[in-house]
Amino acid sequence: KRIVILISGRGSNMQAIVDACAREGWPATVAAVLSNRPDAAGLAFAQARGIATATVDHKSFDSREAFDAALAEAIDGFAPDLVVLAGFMRILGEAFVRRYEGRMLNIHPSLLPAFPGLHTHRRAIEAGCVEAGATVHFVTPELDHGPIVAQVAVPILPGDDEGTLAARVLQEEHRLYPQAVRAVVEGRSAA
Ligand code: GRF
Repeated sequence: KRIVILISGRGSNMQAIVDACAREGWPATVAAVLSNRPDAAGLAFAQARGIATATVDHKSFDSREAFDAALAEAIDGFAPDLVVLAGFMRILGEAFVRRYEGRMLNIHPSLLPAFPGLHTHRRAIEAGCVEAGATVHFVTPELDHGPIVAQVAVPILPGDDEGTLAARVLQEEHRLYPQAVRAVVEGRSAA
């Protein structure tokens, strides 16, 4: 099986997936890491591992449709079985999402269906939640609403701010996302 991972920045979830895939001998390889930002830090990590990288810069396109089409062309060049969004910060159009329906995953830093969208940790603290977490789900046209593959919960502790909570959640994301990707690759979880 072939996986293409899409990032926009740091790429720590991508790194966790690349490492787990190599360490645990998955029946899958990361065929490429693509970014919408040329300066995404995660690209250097992928290159150092000998993984193909490419950038499709959203700023070079004057419409979402044109960006989505160029991104799809880049993805399809690597013929992936699974597309993995890992800190990919562009909203994708419906046609793009439909093209990869049932074979595209995202990780969202909240216990969906609570807190879709941005600033999840701040919103969870402000709401007085005692737990936060992360969700891996199949991507559907409605943002952060697709079928859930896996979730992890972490406590919100007294004195937490956005930063401390994000760090606690991120640590768990790095365990959750590789497990969820593996389950999907091995056919143990389908949309
Ligand atoms: C993660 O918290 C992820 O859940 C969210 O953006 C962050 C990406 O971090 N969508 P990284 O780029 O994987 O380090």
